[in-house]
Amino acid sequence: MNVNRRHLMTGTIGAAAVAMIASACASEDEGGGSGSGKKVGIAMPTKTSERWILDGDNLKASFEDEGYEVTLQYANDVAADQVSQIETMVGQNVDVLVIAAIDNKSLSGVLAQAKDQDITVIAYDRLILDTPDVDYYASFDNTKVGTLQGTYLVEALDLANQAGPFNIELFAGALTDNNAPYFFNGAWAVLEPFVTEGKLVVKSGQTTLEQVATENWDGAIAQERMDNILSNFYNDGSVVDAVLSPFDGISRGIIASLQGSGYTTMPVITGQDAELESVKYIISGLQAMTVYKDTRLLADTTVDMVLAVLDGKTPDINDEDTYDNGDHVIPAFLLEPVSVDVTNYEVELIDSGYIDAADLG
Ligand code: BGC
Repeated sequence: MNVNRRHLMTGTIGAAAVAMIASACASEDEGGGSGSGKKVGIAMPTKTSERWILDGDNLKASFEDEGYEVTLQYANDVAADQVSQIETMVGQNVDVLVIAAIDNKSLSGVLAQAKDQDITVIAYDRLILDTPDVDYYASFDNTKVGTLQGTYLVEALDLANQAGPFNIELFAGALTDNNAPYFFNGAWAVLEPFVTEGKLVVKSGQTTLEQVATENWDGAIAQERMDNILSNFYNDGSVVDAVLSPFDGISRGIIASLQGSGYTTMPVITGQDAELESVKYIISGLQAMTVYKDTRLLADTTVDMVLAVLDGKTPDINDEDTYDNGDHVIPAFLLEPVSVDVTNYEVELIDSGYIDAADLG
């Protein structure tokens, strides 16, 4: 597979994207194309996070380049709205559905309708569970995302050489997102031995996925949980040394909470998605790292998959073991996530054209 062969739309997170986030709302955006005359319906979860705006834009541009007619919709993190949007796409006789699910278990009904019409279904970034009607999965190595976050914390605290103990608090994503346990388990596998050894201490005692999950990946909800943790478990003069956060938007909520409690030096805090605001935080020292996933490559991987399937060929797959959706193992193409901090953001994000240096000013 050559994911770079297509002329990639710029992935730059600019002022326009930020403005779109500020006015986040359900939206419909229908583009036209001729070429093959085939239609693709793209269902994205939300515009409140800039990664999904880039995903939608890149997918739309890449499919249009190939002559597809594109319907792109966002559902504001409301699962029922996403189901109705997909129902509408099925009614429009699309040939392909590309779906980043809001609730991984809410789509069985609508996907059964899609299969009745022989629509090809690609689970995009997030696996769709409990249905026979998903054909392929395009994503990143989600366990590795967590491994990178956990490893970063271990190295930043120098746990190989330091006895600590260091205080750490844990956050995970939405339980309705199949990626959340992969991220969390990947990180926890790295961190747990140090908790067992006593070098890391979770003062809140909240260590299970259910206890640390964040509804809708919402930064405000994470902020509130951090407020509660600080007032209940750190009211004795102790400080938080590290925070496992799965996503930049959640990290920003955690940082706001810490700032509100008077922290001037931040704990070591992880993140994911290389969102512009968080890259600024990394440069200024508020956030330690993020996990960069090049959404341009994911869009191209997905388009390549679709082109192969509709051409009657088997698409390139590099994982046929990991992602059992409860019905069967979904053949997947998984891309590599990259750990980014202040030492390598220029090479990874700016030199690659993902972020425009001018936007960081
Ligand atoms: C994606 C992450 C993203 C999160 C919140 C996950 O499914 O894989 O990249 O941070 O959703 O939007």
